[in-house]
Amino acid sequence: MQDLKVVIGSDHGGFEYKEVIIDYLKSNNIEVFDVGTFNKESCDYPVIAKEVAKKIVSGEFNRGILVCGTGIGMSIAANKVHGIRASLCGDTYSARMTRQHNDSNVLCLGERVIGENLMLDIVDIWLKTEFEGGRHQRRVDMLDK
Ligand code: RB5
Repeated sequence: MQDLKVVIGSDHGGFEYKEVIIDYLKSNNIEVFDVGTFNKESCDYPVIAKEVAKKIVSGEFNRGILVCGTGIGMSIAANKVHGIRASLCGDTYSARMTRQHNDSNVLCLGERVIGENLMLDIVDIWLKTEFEGGRHQRRVDMLDK
């Protein structure tokens, strides 16, 4: 498994899951940097998504996790940044496949959509699954052109 350097962010709608994920990553000795939000006051998901995306495309971190109420706003915002392949996942199969086939570098989650145990399974699988390369590399390359 590649060395994981994770940058994480949420808006108010994803704040509680962000905290759960940070505890989970720390207890598994995975490096994690939190860009906020740091409380449950209403804030704007595009700002947080951009912060996380910038830290991925700069090479400072190799994986990003974004949580909002549905995960949808975060995924729309993150995917506007060139070089970001953000995947909104609500099941473990998609989490595995988006790593194997899409080389997903940002995972988006919806706190108001899925339960905590499923959410942590998705995080775990997404972090541990390697990109398959081969024919998928060509397709991933096409995304950035
Ligand atoms: C905030 O209420 C909510 O709109 C946000 O967390 C997210 O679900 C947007 O896509």
